[in-house]
Amino acid sequence: MTSLTRSAAWSELCAHYAQVCDLHMRDMFDSDPGRFDRFSLRLGDIVFDYSKNRITERTMDLLMDLARETDVEGRRNAMFAGEAINFTEGRAVLHVALRNRGSRPILVNGEDVMPHVNAVLAKMRAFTEAVRTGAWKGWTGRPIADVVNIGIGGSDLGPKMVTRALAHYADGPRAHFVSNVDGTHLAETLKHLDPETTLFIIASKTFTTQETMLNAASARRWLLDAAGDERHVARHFVALSTNAKGVADFGIDTANMFEFWDWVGGRYSLWSAIGMSIALSVGMTRFEELLDGAHMVDEHFRTAPLAENIPVVMAMLGVWYNNFFACGTHAILPYDQYLDRFPAYFQQGDMESNGKSVNRDGEPVDYGTGPIIWGEPGTNGQHAFFQLLHQGTKLVPCDFLAPAQSLNPLDGHHDVLISNFLAQTEALMRGRTIAEARAELTAKGMAPERMDALAPHLTFTGNRPTNTILFRRLTPATLGALIALYEHKIFVQGTVWGINSFDQMGVELGKKLAGAILPELTNDAPVTAHDASTNGLINAFKALRRG
Ligand code: F6P
Repeated sequence: MTSLTRSAAWSELCAHYAQVCDLHMRDMFDSDPGRFDRFSLRLGDIVFDYSKNRITERTMDLLMDLARETDVEGRRNAMFAGEAINFTEGRAVLHVALRNRGSRPILVNGEDVMPHVNAVLAKMRAFTEAVRTGAWKGWTGRPIADVVNIGIGGSDLGPKMVTRALAHYADGPRAHFVSNVDGTHLAETLKHLDPETTLFIIASKTFTTQETMLNAASARRWLLDAAGDERHVARHFVALSTNAKGVADFGIDTANMFEFWDWVGGRYSLWSAIGMSIALSVGMTRFEELLDGAHMVDEHFRTAPLAENIPVVMAMLGVWYNNFFACGTHAILPYDQYLDRFPAYFQQGDMESNGKSVNRDGEPVDYGTGPIIWGEPGTNGQHAFFQLLHQGTKLVPCDFLAPAQSLNPLDGHHDVLISNFLAQTEALMRGRTIAEARAELTAKGMAPERMDALAPHLTFTGNRPTNTILFRRLTPATLGALIALYEHKIFVQGTVWGINSFDQMGVELGKKLAGAILPELTNDAPVTAHDASTNGLINAFKALRRG
């Protein structure tokens, strides 16, 4: 057994689970009118209600014991202190420095990183203002109307999610995102753009990622087909990277490079220069408000006691379901159309971070780690997969998020949205007993034999856990805060599971094998070097592409 499952808190939780797993939340609410007050927290404009979970006060005490025993506080402090907690890559993990708005010194190898962070923010401000005011011009002297962020993974998902989430505030050039190496993505995007007024942002931490480099090269050719002269590239290409040499080798002037550092993980990088497309779209002041919101959560995470610490509570509830109720997935359900990419963003954020199966000592774990993250905005999800959430055989813990104020208050819409939002968590918690189902059918005048047949289908077990995150209004600051809550939740879970949440070795093998297959696709010769399936598929592909 690994040390986690040998810990005292873990054993206590196992015993406690056996005692409480059959308790029904409906009964817990009926017997405790103070349950909402006991199990909800507030931070700024955010209300976090976790009372609709299968917990008692003892459950939360034991979960906090587990957090303490796994040294969540110590590792959190190590992260904020710039220690190399990403030990497989020998790196600090300091996205919190990128939004350290008080500029409290944060040291990496004895050097305060804050002057570097603030210098890049100042450079971003100057550049974004030049583009947004039209002072920065394309090669024919026309201002920039469209920006295309070319990046993938963390160099795409964050900027794309935030740019969409803040579309209400957009007053700069239109932002487009090309990530997929499928040529369709670039071709369909460029179809509608004018090279004279298009700026490409090549976003890549490493500046070696195959998809991004190929898309960037094709975009460069598209520009040069129109502009004709290499010297014009400088007005239309900027780079966001840690790799100055790679940027120079690609042919982008490093004066047009916005730097970040190896202590910024790709999936935590939207707060860095990688957020350039956000800043171009909504302006640097709003980008800094996004940082402010995240900083507020960082301070809360850094200083609040564990039991009052929202990301810690979110994380430990996730551990409760993942490891004791054996739930394999977790749904994120924003009731805000602007947040439609929020679940997809945290698929990378969570699954690339905590999709690990060896602990920090390199031993295989004997417990579940990161859940599958999924979700869609409400109310769309209600008409798609909610059936399974309510009556399926799988227990899926869900987060429901919604703003109290709509940014588009069309007559009646927001109250309908919110009534659905509130009703779903109530229904998931309460369910409907067979007696209630029968009573409803009786009231409708249904014949007893028909009612007997139908009632089981109208019964809901309930007792399905949800968190509710209600916020005043989707502002840049609130969005920053919401993202940071989930980031720290992921950190806490990774700490409890004893894994390194900050590397992503699991994406490498597929890349390596693709490197071996690529040259095999350049001719029509039959391939025999792989297993029978892969050989068969390569040879079928070659035959199909011929005719
Ligand atoms: O998928 C692996 C990965 O390294 C991600 O972690 C990262 O966000 C993405 O590729 C893009 O990397 P880069 O920014 O270096 O191009």
